[in-house]
Amino acid sequence: MVNSKVYTDRRRHLKEKVERGIILILGNNESPVNYPDNTYHFRQDSTFLYFFGIDYPGLAGVIDIDNDREIIFGDDVSIESIIWMGPQRSMADRAAEVGITETMPFGKLSDYIEEAANAGRKIHFTPPYRGDNMMLLSDLTGFHHNEVKGKSSVELIKACVDLRSVKEPWEIEELEKHMIVAYEMHTTAMKMAQPGNTEQQVTGILEGISMSGGGMVSFPIICSVHGETLHNHYHGNTLKKGDLLLVDAGSESPKHYATDHTRTSPVGGEFTQRQKEIYQIVVDANNTSREATKPGVPYRDAHLVAAKVIASGLKDLGLMKGNVDEAVAAGAHALFFPHGLGHMLGLDVHDMEDYDQIYVGYDDEIRPSDQFGLAYLRLGRRLQPNFVITNEPGIYFIPALIDKWRSEKHLEQFINYDKVETYKDFGGIRLEDDILVTETGCRILGERAPIDIGDVEQMVKSGKTE
Ligand code: GLY
Repeated sequence: MVNSKVYTDRRRHLKEKVERGIILILGNNESPVNYPDNTYHFRQDSTFLYFFGIDYPGLAGVIDIDNDREIIFGDDVSIESIIWMGPQRSMADRAAEVGITETMPFGKLSDYIEEAANAGRKIHFTPPYRGDNMMLLSDLTGFHHNEVKGKSSVELIKACVDLRSVKEPWEIEELEKHMIVAYEMHTTAMKMAQPGNTEQQVTGILEGISMSGGGMVSFPIICSVHGETLHNHYHGNTLKKGDLLLVDAGSESPKHYATDHTRTSPVGGEFTQRQKEIYQIVVDANNTSREATKPGVPYRDAHLVAAKVIASGLKDLGLMKGNVDEAVAAGAHALFFPHGLGHMLGLDVHDMEDYDQIYVGYDDEIRPSDQFGLAYLRLGRRLQPNFVITNEPGIYFIPALIDKWRSEKHLEQFINYDKVETYKDFGGIRLEDDILVTETGCRILGERAPIDIGDVEQMVKSGKTE
């Protein structure tokens, strides 16, 4: 149950972690598409949502640690706004709902910050990622707008990461409840994986399911017969028999918690033998790395488990060769699996990525790798109960990467380039679930969308119209 205590507790915990000064958390503003009154869907800043909970533009929250004050800065709406937007609650009412009793007009924010800065007090803020808030922070702090990001508070970032990484029971409930929308999106995509349908049609239907289910998509949908392009946002292809349709899509819950799943379906309902062989390796990598996902285990290790399953499976098919452990240690599997196993999930699809991934996915013990492939792993550190993360191994045949490595004879002791050459038209397969780290291991959130070969084929066939 979300009530004011959720937010007062969070702010209290934050104050315990940041020693002194002022914490300034800017909300987001409406963002114009092509003229000021035609805006994108409003999306509140996630840090603001987490600590102040008000899903409304034009606000800033201040936690004044030294003086034990919590203030929301924002303006009550004018009669003109009421005419266009309908009756609105007062700022005081909105603030009271999240346990704040002190509000001030937005225009007073600069006086408050200036006074504190003049008194030599530290102003803590997280890195801005929108131009308007970058400019505002520049005005408020006196730093040039190009410098503002670098002046953000590592102490505040680390405190926010500590709190937000471990999901509260109601957050898990909210996520789990919304998994029904994710399931509907992905089973619909499977049913629509029919020759003659277009990627654009599938994408549009999925966006509609997300919106009808409570919120906008949590990131631009990847829906492509060229799954080998990891973040493929081109939707211009018409599906044909024999294609693999990769759909990586997620939805925001009403409280803005993100889902993020990927499934890959055979257009028309039957995998070819070659597709089955590669697909099964990805299923095995997904299941085996999930079994290795436990509290206390670095997620980097689960990533390497997936990498070994992939290298071993590809060796069995004659695409890789040599000792599997040595191949993975050298990074040879990354020709086929060039991204990380997963990332944190929460109010953002890549949760807290605005703080800089180094603070979210790594720590003093586990540092990022600079090896190609492993370097893209967003979450390497040890897992804790109630982390919510993605598990998303994949195998891709990326012609430009194959050509590059082959021309350089890169790691040729582990890769059978002649055979790989014959897979350059294969595409890509990714299989992604959202998982909750529990006290003893982990579990998949929500009903698992079909993933085994027979179940996927059956779901696709159930969508045939003739
Ligand atoms: N599912 C999209 C991503 O993780 O980047």
